[in-house]
Amino acid sequence: MKVLEAKFVQDFIKMTDDAFRMNWHERNGGNLSYRLKEEEVELIRPRLNPPTEWVSIGTEVPGLSGEFFLVTGSGMYFRNIIVDPEVCLAIIELDEKGENYRIRWGLVEGGRPTSELPTHLMNHEVKKRLTNGKHRVIYHAHTTNTIALTFVLPLEDRVFTRELWEMATECPVVFPDGVGVVGWMVPGGREIAIETAKLMEKYDVVIWAHHGMFCSGETFDLTFGLLHTVEKSAEILVKVLAISPKKLQTITEDNLREVAGSFHVTLPERFLYKK
Ligand code: 13P
Ligand code: ZN
Repeated sequence: MKVLEAKFVQDFIKMTDDAFRMNWHERNGGNLSYRLKEEEVELIRPRLNPPTEWVSIGTEVPGLSGEFFLVTGSGMYFRNIIVDPEVCLAIIELDEKGENYRIRWGLVEGGRPTSELPTHLMNHEVKKRLTNGKHRVIYHAHTTNTIALTFVLPLEDRVFTRELWEMATECPVVFPDGVGVVGWMVPGGREIAIETAKLMEKYDVVIWAHHGMFCSGETFDLTFGLLHTVEKSAEILVKVLAISPKKLQTITEDNLREVAGSFHVTLPERFLYKK
């Protein structure tokens, strides 16, 4: 099958186009990766390029040895993916140690996978292990309102989780584990990848201070929907803070417990503190 006709490629492209329209992807901002299923690799294998030389990932992900990923290219604009996916995207294969990758499709005018490849792959490795292989999508976006909040809220998981849960009744149902926060760091390397992957052990959402957000999920829809929900909640909070520094009423910790009971989710006690 032609690579561009495969459903996972079509879904990947649709998601990047939807995401661009949300205004989260100025210039080359943001990146997306998808871990292929074995049957998807077999479907497109006849259309892959012959193997070329291995390139260092910049970190080690032994839990992902031999896996294939569809990823956005570094410096590529989300705006242009739907226009020319073969220029903007790549399918990469990892070696048996999970230390190197090689490009097997895409980036036809040259280039390399996203500069956040270490974070994407380290997150994939954690989530593959924790979800028995269910999670396949890692998504990074420059979400305006979430970024704005990192200038005015303490950079603590408990503060961000609680404030975001409070902004819309269904938030604790959509992200019951809460969100993690990484303080400002230089992007694009192994250090920030290690810090992010540590938080992915506990959360499906990690916020990078003054930069954006990473989400992990099973499908493109679930991952996009998760990031969208967190960002929408952040938008409400930005508006609330802009209207008045003090809330007159809110969703209380007791209300959160009631929602959790009705929707059969467990909320960590550390986020249900009295304010
Ligand atoms: P890339 O163009 O290398 O994917 O980088 C964009 C980005 O958002 C870095 O954090
Ligand atoms: Zn970024």
